Amino acid sequence: MPIQFQINGKATTVDVPEDTPLLWVIRDDVGLTGTKFGCGIGMCGACTVHINGRATRSCITPVGSIAGTAVTTIEGLTQGGNHPLQQAWVEAQTPQCGYCQPGQIMQAAAMLREFPNPTDDQIDQIMSGNLCRCMAYLRIREAIKIAAGNMQADAAEGAAGGNGHA
Ligand code: FES
Ligand code: FES
Repeated sequence: MPIQFQINGKATTVDVPEDTPLLWVIRDDVGLTGTKFGCGIGMCGACTVHINGRATRSCITPVGSIAGTAVTTIEGLTQGGNHPLQQAWVEAQTPQCGYCQPGQIMQAAAMLREFPNPTDDQIDQIMSGNLCRCMAYLRIREAIKIAAGNMQADAAEGAAGGNGHA
């Protein structure tokens, strides 16, 4: 039965069994391969996407359960790949092999919406389900803090009538 949802702002219909994992649909049917397969059992975070803004493990999410929702993948986080987190990731030279990083960034983006100025403890707790086999955890935390600072500076500048962070 056709299942309709939005992905990165675009209306999408797929005709697959309802219990097909959303991750397979994103990668194989929609053709967006930025979202990664790690464990397949909801334990590593490599497959994290946003569903209506909430960080969600797409490997254990049946596509039938997300009909009518808005899905965002790493490709849709911003139009030009220049989300403050992505910029901070570059600045802090965060990735090593890179495999876990789309999931890390999507988890962090959802966190910053809820906690714009997270403490180290909040970062560690909220990011704890996103595993990195390269052990880039300290650089991930550093990049999150850079992004949070830049986003707050932008917000303050915007409130003061400025043009935003360069
Ligand atoms: S692949 Fe989904 S949590 Fe590991
Ligand atoms: S950078 Fe290699 S798994 Fe995280």
